[in-house]
Amino acid sequence: MSQENNEMSCCVVSCEKPLDQNYWDQQYQANTTGWDLGQVSPPIKSYIDQINDKSIRILIPGAGNAYEAEYLLQQGFTSITVIDIAPTVVQKLQHHFSGQAHIHIIQGDFFEHEEKYDLIIEQTFFCALPPSMRQRYVWKMHSLLNDGGRITGVLFNRSFESGPPFGGSQTEYEQLFQAAFEFKTIACCINSVKPRHESELFVNLMKNSSVHVRLYKLSGFTCMECVDTNIKLIEAIQGVQHVSVNTAMNDILIVSEKELPIDALKNVLSYDSKYSIDNLYTTNKA
Ligand SMILES: C[S@@+](CC[C@H](N)C(=O)[O-])C[C@H]1O[C@@H](n2cnc3c(N)ncnc32)[C@H](O)[C@@H]1O
Repeated sequence: MSQENNEMSCCVVSCEKPLDQNYWDQQYQANTTGWDLGQVSPPIKSYIDQINDKSIRILIPGAGNAYEAEYLLQQGFTSITVIDIAPTVVQKLQHHFSGQAHIHIIQGDFFEHEEKYDLIIEQTFFCALPPSMRQRYVWKMHSLLNDGGRITGVLFNRSFESGPPFGGSQTEYEQLFQAAFEFKTIACCINSVKPRHESELFVNLMKNSSVHVRLYKLSGFTCMECVDTNIKLIEAIQGVQHVSVNTAMNDILIVSEKELPIDALKNVLSYDSKYSIDNLYTTNKA
């Protein structure tokens, strides 16, 4: 598909495939980029228009053709980074923005990127990820933001039969980002492009810098009931503010007031030898 149809539809390549570099690059090579608006997303444009400080550090993950970056440049912003996993679109961006000192273009995986930003713009990146990566997204976003930093942009407020895109709802997002971020705004967009009319939420989430947000690897869980029981046990640890487990039951996101020793978490699960939790993802207190 070349431009967006009435619905933002699933990509042509089988969605059973892993949504990796190959998958996304094939979409750009085959021009099956139905998500591409061909313009800066209007709700994001309105948000950009009211930012006074043009020197803030801005990241656009999964930027695609990066219309938002182009608009930021036009408005005089001086520190824009875009990252995308697909080499084909990144080469295009490098050519398009060549000689522009205020934009930094990276080909790579957002989840491996290490930097600090004041603003991260969300535009059909979250919905492109498998839902099992949502806890990882929250953790990574938190770690990439400076104190007072924000994720701002649009999230779908609808479901899709198959994905990508993968949909969601306000309730789901409120649960997911709970405690790690403060909801400055979450509201239906009034100026979405026509095909997305009444199906997008505008979000402005400020990093909660007073908490530690950590992602751990879980194993041994095969049913959501068991997960829920163990979430309650971890939530009972002093200082824990929020716990959430991904749909694949192998990532656990823990938001806490203080750093939790891994042994405290291991102890909680030690009543059943089939369960384990490992400290695979750690960051400095961000
Ligand atoms: C649905 S497209 C959206 C592109 C752009 N934001 C837009 O609205 O036109 C999702 C983009 O995320 C990129 N992507 C997917 N997984 C990624 C990852 N782990 N790291 C960086 N980019 C990724 C894809 O290559 C693709 O360009």
